[in-house]
Amino acid sequence: MRILSQQSLEDWTTFGLPARAEHFASCASEDEVKEALAWHREQNCALHVLGGGSNVLLADDLPGLVLQMGIGGVTEVEDTDDGVLVRVGAGVGWHEFVMTSLDRGWYGLENLSLIPGSTGAGPMQNIGAYGVELEERFHGLEAVEVATGETHHFAHSDCQFGYRESVFKRALKGQYVITAVTFHLLKTPELRLQYGAIKSALKAAGVTDPTPKSVSDAVIGIRRSKLPDPSVLGNAGSFFKNPVVDEARHLALAKKFPEMPQYPTAGGIKLAAGWLIDQAGWKGHDRGTHGVHDRQALVLVNKGGATGSELLQLAEDVQQDVLKRFGVQLEREVNVLPGAQL
Ligand code: EPU
Repeated sequence: MRILSQQSLEDWTTFGLPARAEHFASCASEDEVKEALAWHREQNCALHVLGGGSNVLLADDLPGLVLQMGIGGVTEVEDTDDGVLVRVGAGVGWHEFVMTSLDRGWYGLENLSLIPGSTGAGPMQNIGAYGVELEERFHGLEAVEVATGETHHFAHSDCQFGYRESVFKRALKGQYVITAVTFHLLKTPELRLQYGAIKSALKAAGVTDPTPKSVSDAVIGIRRSKLPDPSVLGNAGSFFKNPVVDEARHLALAKKFPEMPQYPTAGGIKLAAGWLIDQAGWKGHDRGTHGVHDRQALVLVNKGGATGSELLQLAEDVQQDVLKRFGVQLEREVNVLPGAQL
């Protein structure tokens, strides 16, 4: 493992923003992760872990060490009665893993097709789409403790999963580097078709007897039609989380906007941030080098030549306007490095 200096990170994140890492190590095994962490402890410098770089906004150069996760491998570790346990290296691309699982006849992740990023980053924010969240097929994970270099195992109950949440974003933030994730996948498909968009896409494709593959194809089609391809237009997917509001706020808004999308959840009513931003007139907003995507208002885009601080300014303007119009505070879903800027 080599430690590089002043490495450009432009091609390592999907926003494609200009920023450099003071030191940079790409790690292809758990031993290399431990080696890089030992170096970081010796130097007593900052540490940032980068997976697929698809959920991060680089607001500036990163001091210290950037550990790029490159551990590969997809291995069946156990045959269970109803399925298989599959261990996946944290550096395996998420979509690549979903495609491999379909090829091997392991089901349950088809609704999560085409989500960018690495498998190791998936549990951090419990990725989810079209009615399925990663935690539903999650079995456990291995992670190296930054302070000691020791490997720890986390079971489902240790991870405190929530909507785009886990213990790794909260109480244990920055304390572990995830190196492998184990999933419990099914041998018999249990299709999840409750999302209207999936039903419509299957219908449009003339599918009357859906399979995991046809659901995956439908999801891929929907995502391609709404979300920009990062290799063409820099972005980090949904920039904000969908906000959960209390009953009073919900009732006031629902009265004024009867057509407003709303989803009851355990903690309150979840609203669609994309709808609020769209309604406020930001969809397609253009600031030359950057703006709001014209087909999905929840996505901010780097059209070429934007800086991280410009994108953060746009995000703040959107947040303030939505707060003013609807009394709803939007929270960022994307991680801003280094540290919180707003
Ligand atoms: N909407 C608008 N205008 C917009 C965008 C959305 O009116 O510009 C409306 C839609 O018509 C719909 C509602 O808002 O009624 C929700 O939109 P959509 O179904 O597209 O989903 P979303 O809430 O915007 C979430 C996830 C996505 C995930 C989709 C599908 C979050 C923050 N985002 O988006 O995840 O793919 O559901 O399940 O939860 C990501 O996290 O990066 C991501 C793309």
